[in-house]
Amino acid sequence: MSTGVTVRVPAKVNVQLAVGAARPDGFHDLANVFLAVGLYDEVTATPSPGGPRVTCAGADAGQVPLDGTNLAARAAVALAERYGRPADVDLHIAKDIPVAGGMAGGSADGAGALLACDALWGTGASREELLGICADLGSDVPFSLAGGAALGTGRGERLTELEVGGTFHWVFAMAPRGLSTPAVFREFDRLSEGRDIPAPTASQDLLAALAKGDADALAAAVSNDLQPAALSLFPELAHTLAAGRAAGALACLVSGSGPTTAFLARDADAAESIAAALRTSDTCRTVRTAAGPVPGATVL
Ligand code: C5P
Repeated sequence: MSTGVTVRVPAKVNVQLAVGAARPDGFHDLANVFLAVGLYDEVTATPSPGGPRVTCAGADAGQVPLDGTNLAARAAVALAERYGRPADVDLHIAKDIPVAGGMAGGSADGAGALLACDALWGTGASREELLGICADLGSDVPFSLAGGAALGTGRGERLTELEVGGTFHWVFAMAPRGLSTPAVFREFDRLSEGRDIPAPTASQDLLAALAKGDADALAAAVSNDLQPAALSLFPELAHTLAAGRAAGALACLVSGSGPTTAFLARDADAAESIAAALRTSDTCRTVRTAAGPVPGATVL
């Protein structure tokens, strides 16, 4: 029996999520500034005839689909089809990124499985090829592979790497239930009906703050156009945001399509004290701290 390959993949927070009008294909053009943070899923690929089979362990494992719709299974099948070989693999996900939380947990598993199968099968696929398969799997999957910090344009899948001049410290509050990304985009469409929506562009102030590693400047520049839609579907998130603000967070925002909320702290100690306040606030399910940027999907 051969041993498996394990890949570690980080979660992301969007420090800017500018959303354009719905396109004819139903997607939205974005200016999406991703930052990879140190909360990880691990995907282990092990040879197994008749695969792909997916198993999952972790606090949220019960909410993870284990059939062919799982992005890890879809990634294995996509790579196998491209190289004309069977997807004879077991994929085990050790899940620490919240499920349906707006932190790209499903995308992380897709990118992780792709890299793990690529290493296991020795396909020799180029980075560009892998990023192309990621883009077919989902808008956030290329960034899960790439990590670091990047501007995503198009539907978020076209990445430009960004320089970051320091480490940013975050607190994440996980909500008691998930939010569906398509539902949040539909709510964005409903809320913006009849309004002129400008083409999404990256904030130059935000890019400069990242490049300098300046937490105060970043706090002044973060934005998320999906936040009103997430709050409309999940009004209780306003209490979590208020609790983080009262605890001294430099910035408080919904992460991506939510419902995880993200709080920027001045340093690691401040992050721990905001986390402690959120834990006793009775406004969320779990609280975690994580810093970024961190590297993308990595074979262990
Ligand atoms: O690309 P992904 O499969 O992650 O997208 C999930 C859903 O989120 C899409 O089906 C679409 O409803 C919405 N979406 C969007 N515009 C984007 C990305 C996602 O409308 N740029």
